[in-house]
Amino acid sequence: AAIEKGGYDHFMLKEIFEQPQTIYDSLRGRLDAKKGTLTMGGIREYADVLSNANRIVIVACGTSWHAGLVAEYIIEELCRIPVEVEYASEFRYRNPVIGEGDVIIAVSQSGETADTLVAIESAKEKGAIILGICNVVGSSIARASQAGAYTHAGPEIGVASTKAFTAQLAVLTLTALKIAAEKGSISEQRFQHLLDELEDVSDKVATALELNDQIKEIADKYKDARDFLFLGRGYNFPVALEGALKLKEISYIHAEGYPAAEMKHGPIALVDENLPVVFVATKDTYYEKVVSNIQEIKARKGKVIAIITEGDETIPAMADDVIIVPEADELVAPMISVIPLQLLAYHVGVLKGYDVDKPRNLAKSVTVE
Ligand code: G6P
Repeated sequence: AAIEKGGYDHFMLKEIFEQPQTIYDSLRGRLDAKKGTLTMGGIREYADVLSNANRIVIVACGTSWHAGLVAEYIIEELCRIPVEVEYASEFRYRNPVIGEGDVIIAVSQSGETADTLVAIESAKEKGAIILGICNVVGSSIARASQAGAYTHAGPEIGVASTKAFTAQLAVLTLTALKIAAEKGSISEQRFQHLLDELEDVSDKVATALELNDQIKEIADKYKDARDFLFLGRGYNFPVALEGALKLKEISYIHAEGYPAAEMKHGPIALVDENLPVVFVATKDTYYEKVVSNIQEIKARKGKVIAIITEGDETIPAMADDVIIVPEADELVAPMISVIPLQLLAYHVGVLKGYDVDKPRNLAKSVTVE
C-alpha cells in the first residue's frame, strides 16, 4: 500500500499533489494554445446541437455538483445559453420539464452514481441529448451518454474527491469554450486568452501546492473549532461550498458554504470569536464586495482565513491568516483556489486522527439510491 501511495501518507494527499499533472492530462490533446485550437473528439458530432441548445441542465451529486455550479457561470457567461444545475436525486423524481432541444450534462467521477444514471436515462427518453463528463472510462453514465468527454484524472481512491473535481472544471471549461466558438458568442481575443489561461493552470496549481506546510500550520491553529463557515462569490462561490464539503467529509467538523453576500440572511448569526470563516477572495469582478463581507465578519470578531491573490495588500491588513495563490482569470481561478481548501481539510482530518481516505459513513461511489 505504501508503494501505491507513492511515498505519501494517504491517497488523498497523493491525489491532491497529482493535480498539476491530472489537469494537464485533461487538457492534453484537446487544447493547443499556440495554434489557438481546441479539439473535443467526443462532442464533435454534437457541436451543432450543443450550440443551438435551448438550455443546458447539469445533473450531478456531491463534489461533481459543485463542478457543475462553476460550469453554470462559465457557460452562461461565454455561451449565453441558460443553464440550470440540479441534484440528480431531485431531478429524477420531480417530473422536470425536459424535451427536444435540451442538453443534459451529467458530471460524475465514477460514472456509476445511481441517481445521476437514472436521471439521464429518463431525460433521454424525453428527447434530450446527454453529454457525459466522467472520469471512469466505459462507466455506465459514459455509456448511457450520446456525447461526452473523459476527465483523464486517473483512478481516484480517496473517498473525498479532489483531483476529479479540478479535472471536471478543466473539461467543463473546454466544453464551454467549444460551444462558444461554435456559436460565435466569444471574441477571438477572449477565446485565445482563455486558452492561454488554461494552459497556465497546471503550473499555478503546482505553485499553490507549495503552500502545504503553511496550511498545515493553519489547520493546527483552527482544528478544534466546532463549526466553520466558507464564503465566496461568483466563480468562487461553488469553491466555498466544496471547501465546506471537504472539511465535513474528513474532519467531521460542521461546516457551511455560502455565497458571501447571502450570509447576512442567516449564517452571520453564528459569527463570534470562536468561528473561523474561510473566504475565497481572489482578485476578480467581485473582489471589492468580498472585502466588505470580510469587514462584516471582523466587526463581529470572527476569525478570517482568506485565500487571496499575490499582490493583494488590502485583505492581509484585515484577515487573521492569508493564503496567497497565483493570479488567474476568474473563469479558471477555481481550479487554483480550491487547492488550499483541499489541503486544509486534509490536514485538519489527519491532525484529528481520522482515516481521511475512508471517512465514516461515506462511499466512494453511491450505486444505490
Ligand atoms: C460520493 C463521493 C463523492 C462524490 C459523489 C458523486 O458521495 O463520496 O466524493 O462527489 O459521490 O460521485 P460521482 O462519482 O458521481 O462524481
